[in-house]
Amino acid sequence: MEKLREKLDKELNNGDFVKAVLSGSFDKSVKKTVYEPVSVSGKTMIRRDTFTHDGKDIRKNLDIGQFLPDLEQRCVNFRQMNVLCVSFSSEVLRSKKGSLHISYGKGVGRTDAADNDRKKNYILDPTEKYGFLVMLGIQDKDGRVKDKKQSKFRQINRFLEIVKDVTAKLQGDDLIIWDLCCGKCYLSFAVYYYYTQILNKSVTLYCVDRKSDVIAECAEYAEKLGFSGMKFICGDVFKCLPERDPDMVLSLHACDTATDIVLSEAVKRSAKVILSSPCCQHELAGQLDCPDLSFITKEPVLKQKLAAIITDALRCKLLYASGYSVTTLEFIDPDETPKNLLIRAEKAAIPKKTREKEIKEYEELCTRLNADPLMRKLLQRPTGQI
Ligand SMILES: C[S@@+](CC[C@H](N)C(=O)[O-])C[C@H]1O[C@@H](n2cnc3c(N)ncnc32)[C@H](O)[C@@H]1O
Repeated sequence: MEKLREKLDKELNNGDFVKAVLSGSFDKSVKKTVYEPVSVSGKTMIRRDTFTHDGKDIRKNLDIGQFLPDLEQRCVNFRQMNVLCVSFSSEVLRSKKGSLHISYGKGVGRTDAADNDRKKNYILDPTEKYGFLVMLGIQDKDGRVKDKKQSKFRQINRFLEIVKDVTAKLQGDDLIIWDLCCGKCYLSFAVYYYYTQILNKSVTLYCVDRKSDVIAECAEYAEKLGFSGMKFICGDVFKCLPERDPDMVLSLHACDTATDIVLSEAVKRSAKVILSSPCCQHELAGQLDCPDLSFITKEPVLKQKLAAIITDALRCKLLYASGYSVTTLEFIDPDETPKNLLIRAEKAAIPKKTREKEIKEYEELCTRLNADPLMRKLLQRPTGQI
């Protein structure tokens, strides 16, 4: 074992360790334990996943220095250990009485290691099993992403990347996050997992939706997963918002003007970050009346599309006027769904004069377009009032 330890230590120091798997536990307490390098906030750590027989994945990120002692301590309880590095691989077979048979083979080489690096860039690795994804029916019980759920899986991963990008804006370890119009909470579970299991932050994530059956089911999943910081509120986002102000507000595909409620409440409750993906923007389609645009609006399909774009552009203007820097992104492949626009708003020090100018422009535009968007009216009223 001493020789293996030395070789492994060397690979580790060179950043050439790829994976270690412990399988066949003598006391049958766990199914297997997997160690892999991951990057956490730019720092390389070793992620340890312990897979239990009832389908749970207990995850912990170890500092590099903790890895070898941890591996040595645990491997005595396993019949088999496989180690994979760039320059060698090794299999260790252990009998119940403790005798060892150690063999060595080829490593993965540089090319495969580069592939592995690319894989590490995914926040959720498609070859890993995640308890919450199994529970949500995205992965099967063996951890394979189901064929019909591949696009959902990509969407979740992409969304997590966007969440990762804005995380620097969220100070402190005890974050309050709202997911409004959360539906089946695919993203809430992923975000909760990301913050608590990968970044080791403490999070309270409030999920609000008016569908009682969906909320009850998600609450049950959260309890089974031990996601105790997830709280569920059944009700209309007009009236049933959490008491605690949010650091970040998420809302994906909140129908029509529900997005206006989400955005205006997020602004009024001083969220530092807002990630909102609007959908079914019908409100302005019934209002738009602008002679300059009649060559478009005379065609009903084009009018609907134009109204949707104007709705979101006006929302962005209002967010900017409310003190947020705003970016719009296509967060999933447009071939997968046309509902892929994401508004990313981050609280910023926008000078008062600039904001006043923006609101003036906004009012002028609304007059020219004959538009009277709900978001503007909501922003002028006290929080929670329609
Ligand atoms: C298209 S689904 C999106 C669900 C989820 N965010 C997602 O992206 O998978 C829209 C959800 O918004 C909820 N919803 C719409 N208007 C709402 C309102 N005013 N208050 C609470 N929930 C609302 C619906 O019940 C539905 O679950």
